[in-house]
Amino acid sequence: MSFVLNGKRVRVQAHPLKRLLDVLRDDCRLTGTKEGCGEGECGACTVIVDGRPVNSCLVPFAHVDGTAVTTIEGLGGRHPLQRAFVEHGGAQCGICTPGMIMSAVALGRKPTVEGMKIGLAGNLCRCTGYAAIYKSIAAAARAENRRGQSGKGPKTRQRPTRR
Ligand code: FES
Ligand code: FES
Repeated sequence: MSFVLNGKRVRVQAHPLKRLLDVLRDDCRLTGTKEGCGEGECGACTVIVDGRPVNSCLVPFAHVDGTAVTTIEGLGGRHPLQRAFVEHGGAQCGICTPGMIMSAVALGRKPTVEGMKIGLAGNLCRCTGYAAIYKSIAAAARAENRRGQSGKGPKTRQRPTRR
């Protein structure tokens, strides 16, 4: 299967029905994407495929042939959301954090709290009570918009939809 992974075209040999989650972690050695429930309920495994957040535990590898996949590693550790989650307590134990951030990437440039609740409805967190997550996302949006006004805006935010 050939697809674009975090901006680079890759060719990976794996069974077409292998879960994308396992292909990313085992075959691509990208272990930032986490497994929680393994049943599409928790969102810990969220990655972005062709601009949309998906639960990678539910996606057969065959479905990503020819697509563009972005994982938490694709944000390079420097995305405003990553910084904001650390600074505002949005990440505690961290198991939900990569998936939460990938869903947050898809919220758009000016997410409202209502939009966050809807966009992150499929991402469960047992530690934070969510308030710190919403605060982190709002802080990241402010930082991104400031960067956008200075002509250095990010290109990773997209509209939310979930397969
Ligand atoms: Fe995929 Fe929980 S591990 S939704
Ligand atoms: Fe622990 Fe979210 S930070 S589950």
